[in-house]
Amino acid sequence: MQISKASPLHGELSVPGDKSISHRAVMFGSLAKGTTEITNFLQGADCLSTIACFRQMGISIENTPEHILIHGRGLHGLTAPSSVLDAGNSGTTTRLISGILSGQSFSSVLTGDESIQSRPMKRIMTPLSMMGADITSIHGNGCAPLQINGRPLKAVHYNSPVASAQVKSCVLLAGMYGDGITSVTEPVLSRNHSELMLRHFGAKVLSEGTTASIYPEPQLQGRYISVPGDISSAAYFIAAGLLVPGSQILIKNVGVNPTRDGILKVCSAMGADITRLNENNDSGEPTADLLVKSSELHGTVIEGELIPTLIDEIPMLAVMAAFASGTTIIRDAAELKVKESDRIAVMTENLSLMGVDIEATSDGMIIRGGRPVHGAAVDSRLDHRIAMSFAVAALAAEGTTTIKDASCVRISYPNFYEDLFSFMK
Ligand code: S3P
Repeated sequence: MQISKASPLHGELSVPGDKSISHRAVMFGSLAKGTTEITNFLQGADCLSTIACFRQMGISIENTPEHILIHGRGLHGLTAPSSVLDAGNSGTTTRLISGILSGQSFSSVLTGDESIQSRPMKRIMTPLSMMGADITSIHGNGCAPLQINGRPLKAVHYNSPVASAQVKSCVLLAGMYGDGITSVTEPVLSRNHSELMLRHFGAKVLSEGTTASIYPEPQLQGRYISVPGDISSAAYFIAAGLLVPGSQILIKNVGVNPTRDGILKVCSAMGADITRLNENNDSGEPTADLLVKSSELHGTVIEGELIPTLIDEIPMLAVMAAFASGTTIIRDAAELKVKESDRIAVMTENLSLMGVDIEATSDGMIIRGGRPVHGAAVDSRLDHRIAMSFAVAALAAEGTTTIKDASCVRISYPNFYEDLFSFMK
């Protein structure tokens, strides 16, 4: 994919449905009694992997352009898959389904692509084993493929060493099959979509500070879910609107759950002109339209409790920092090393190729912004968020940028380039 410096961007768009919420709607709908209807579902490869896994476990799922219909069979309604479950590139699918599979009355094997097979699964194997689960890494390296022999589980209180919604959700989902109340405490609050949606389906889930608890054997009932636009996808258009001088973009119906809206807080700290319009909370997940006007940005510090609320947006924020005046420091973000790629290494390498003064640290990056940024040949390393971040960098850099393996955007945003180029006509 070749992208050159852009003239001012004007217009509006609706970004696709939230990835985290789409996954959860399929999973909880499958475990509920009755029909679940999902609108604005994200038709990205990751969420389609979740649908495929539940179909393999006997759930009938209709996927039409209008909606997804899930004919749920209740908490104990899944059946043994006849072959290996394939989570593709999706960490959310792998980690959340592992919690569910641990409490079933059948055995299964769960795997995914090369990236998934190198991402850490001990973080879920440890708490699941404490609950009495029989889960092993088939190659003994703490990664997928995972062999999971379902069995009755014990309720635990788990003190998680990482702020991870995937770990938290995995334990809470296993907790539905436990013998008492299961709770998870995390060092910093991560996204709370599981807690909100499980409650919406009828589970008893309590949240207090950074602790979430679930009562066992919930009677989940099929529900209607309208998925808000994904703030992680909106991030690329927020950045494009801010970085390309003279631009004004309206992004409609974006999920602005406070456990996800860190990018908006950082943008405001960097001097960005973004207005929230039409704020709404009807669906249980807050949404707003975002009006973005190009702005002169300055550096900032991104750290601590903010990190889990913008973890997937850090590649895009690193690009913004390159175009901002002054220094941006990103710390407390070692989790970036175990995402779809090592995002500290890949961002540092690619931004350096574009002439940016950037230094990788053990838990983040230091970016000294304001130097001229020029186009270069960059490698997405098959990481969708890297590809999209550099597509935006290309719009603001001098000359032309070439992105290798740019089609990996299909993971979370299949029409990303069409939407981006629609602003350039
Ligand atoms: C997700 C949680 C985050 C995030 C991922 C989606 C989720 O991962 O990076 O893209 O849907 O729960 P961690 O829980 O590993 O931080």
